[in-house]
Amino acid sequence: MSTVEVHGLVKDYGDHRAVDSISFTIAAGEVYGLLGHNGAGKSTTVEILEGHRHRTAGEVRVLGMDPAHAGREFRDRIGIVLQSSAVERELTVRESLNVYGSCYCAPRPVAEVIEMVGLTEKADARIGSLSGGQRRRLDLALGIIGDPEVLFLDEPTTGFDPVARRQSWELVERLCADGMTVLLTTHYLDEAEHLADRVGVLVGGRLVTEGTPAELMAMSPLTTITFTLPPATSAATLHLPSTAVVDGASVQIETERPTQVLADVTGAAAALGLELDSLTVRRPSLEDVFLALGGEASP
Ligand SMILES: Nc1ncnc2c1ncn2[C@@H]1O[C@H](COP(=O)(O)OP(=O)(O)OP(=O)(O)O)[C@@H](O)[C@H]1O
Ligand SMILES: [Mg+2]
Repeated sequence: MSTVEVHGLVKDYGDHRAVDSISFTIAAGEVYGLLGHNGAGKSTTVEILEGHRHRTAGEVRVLGMDPAHAGREFRDRIGIVLQSSAVERELTVRESLNVYGSCYCAPRPVAEVIEMVGLTEKADARIGSLSGGQRRRLDLALGIIGDPEVLFLDEPTTGFDPVARRQSWELVERLCADGMTVLLTTHYLDEAEHLADRVGVLVGGRLVTEGTPAELMAMSPLTTITFTLPPATSAATLHLPSTAVVDGASVQIETERPTQVLADVTGAAAALGLELDSLTVRRPSLEDVFLALGGEASP
């Protein structure tokens, strides 16, 4: 049995279909990333799985339970980081974690969680005085204080500086090493690439593709080669393929045969004793694939 099972999930807000018959599963210990543009239906899906929102149709199971009818046992075994949370601004970091922790049967020690999210120096600061990124770290702390088996992270690192983002990735990786199952939504493609075992792409409420980040990247077979044309050199001198795009001195070649094209071009340059400045070879990123999918399916 999968830890999360979603089958034919539909959510209508009035006559707007926000989630349109999506199905996916998440295995125990897996990190699943939901990607999608603003309004694609990510938060709606996550909130239904958390039991915070009613579905219009379809089947949903989390830890074998239906979130729509689940009670205390369910809430005790899941952790939630909402996209936007409302915590009492007058409480301190430590106080809020004590309050939230008391809702769980076996919470993690508060000091340990504060240390895990890097808020030790702010432990006794009032929540109202925290910066945006610090608030988000507290949200993460509140999500894991109950030592959950399943963690829902709705855009957990929005507003983080690059260092904090790396640190929170490490934290999520540590939690996963202990067997936690994670459903993550994010706009950061590198985050999904880094953290997710599998990724689902939502476009207009539909799950348009699913796979490992590597599988998704393999959907775009083109490799991009770029370099600067040496002075007084023409495209013909360097045996550039007809698909090469030359813009002033910059050259860009998209190819399915990067080894051959590189050999031809660098061979010709080397024979003439020329150095190709700024030579790069880039595989497609998840971002390329994501933009291609979203672009195709957008109205
Ligand atoms: N409470 C609501 N009432 C009516 N429509 C809603 C409600 N919540 C969301 N929607 C609509 O449903 C669609 C999906 O919204 P949702 O919040 O799930 O998107 P999202 O993928 O999380 O977007 P974002 O990246 O901006 O967080 C949007 O068109 C949104 O306007
Ligand atoms: Mg959202």
